[in-house]
Amino acid sequence: MKNIFKVHNLDSRLINKVVKDKVVDVTITSPPYFDMKDYDSELQIGYGQEYDEYLEDLKKVFKNVFDITKDDGTLWVVIDSYKRNGEVVPLPFDFSSKIKEVGWKLQEVIIWKKDRTLPWSNTGQMRSIFEYILVFSKSESFNFYIDRVRDFKSLKRWWVKYPERYNPKGKSPDSIWEFGIPVQGSWGSGYIDHFCPLPEGLIEQILKITTNETDIVLDCFSGSGAVLAKAESMNRKYIGFELNKEYIKMFKKYQKKTLKENKKDFLFSKKNTFEQEAFEKLIIDLRVLKYARLLYKNLSKNNGIKEIRISTTITRRKTTKKNALVVAEYNILNLTSESSITIQKLINEIIRKKPLSNFGIEPIFYISDNYESFLSRVKQKYVYIYTEKRSHKFSEKIEKGNFSGSPSTAIIISNIKVDLNEKDYE
Ligand SMILES: C[S@@+](CC[C@H](N)C(=O)[O-])C[C@H]1O[C@@H](n2cnc3c(N)ncnc32)[C@H](O)[C@@H]1O
Repeated sequence: MKNIFKVHNLDSRLINKVVKDKVVDVTITSPPYFDMKDYDSELQIGYGQEYDEYLEDLKKVFKNVFDITKDDGTLWVVIDSYKRNGEVVPLPFDFSSKIKEVGWKLQEVIIWKKDRTLPWSNTGQMRSIFEYILVFSKSESFNFYIDRVRDFKSLKRWWVKYPERYNPKGKSPDSIWEFGIPVQGSWGSGYIDHFCPLPEGLIEQILKITTNETDIVLDCFSGSGAVLAKAESMNRKYIGFELNKEYIKMFKKYQKKTLKENKKDFLFSKKNTFEQEAFEKLIIDLRVLKYARLLYKNLSKNNGIKEIRISTTITRRKTTKKNALVVAEYNILNLTSESSITIQKLINEIIRKKPLSNFGIEPIFYISDNYESFLSRVKQKYVYIYTEKRSHKFSEKIEKGNFSGSPSTAIIISNIKVDLNEKDYE
């Protein structure tokens, strides 16, 4: 069998002569410009064509791409509008309608905000600083691993006090992506002028969202090969199509020079996912503790049930309940004259309503009427004490056997240790 995983020096209208099966997981590409840039090849699409002819040719290419894409695969196209004869030509929208005819479904429109500093301006026009990234799928259900690119570093810092408002994996990216255009660096300056390769960060983001290692990435207008290079360094397989032999040569040279280093960087970045995992764990811990605190507040303030203590622990990290993130145990020490049934009824009412219903916690309750049975449910030797005022910083660490429910502010005991300084997070 012929090796299909390379850059083919072939017209991409003929993709199906080389690739015959549905193998592609994602295509990332930027089509040749319409009648603006000469890529120095007789068969090139765009240069010297009529607009309708150009769109028809793109349709042919993306019909081929459609046929070789897996049913859960996607297509990402970087494309821009431009001005002709004194008015804007809405190429991204015309293109989108055109390839809809062969089955592609438009899923997202992303604005790629480029470098701010480059003054791409013409008199009487605004400075042009963005292009479109159009995301298409073959079917309604497609690979979209958005959790991998959530941002948890730039969250507003008051997540400490409001952990229930944040997705524990971080904020999903918005639809304006900011990536500067590559300058010099390992591509070399002449290279950049020639190609305008897509930024590495942008390609990496798409590959993370859409593919796993060993998946197959296609660029049907591969140019500098930036997409293919990034795919290979991230342990994905690639297929490229490019008419200009010189570009293919340059791509191979670039790979020879940089692949080893880039692969190393990728391996290193994989190790760093623990930061996101640690953030997720912290948000869940904060939620479980705050849930206990709000429960106490509600029982004491609204229902006059003050003489209680709550112990909490996370049992299993997985839950089968929809919208729940975690299963947590809440053991209530009931020192009031109310019966356990009354307390449980009140609790059921409270947790059914906001805010507790929004915490993503599947709670299991136990109610004890004496210290002995209450503490027998606490499995750890040492526990952390939290007060009614805050659940993001423990007030004391004690041996479980020494817990006597005093001072009266020692409301919650838990094996969860959270020790965050308020000032650091304001
Ligand atoms: C906008 S550039 C792609 C740039 C690329 N995204 C990068 O990062 O370098 C379009 C490329 O399509 C190539 N091309 C034009 N017509 C083609 C065709 N019919 N088949 C294959 N490649 C073609 C051009 O030679 C050019 O390199």
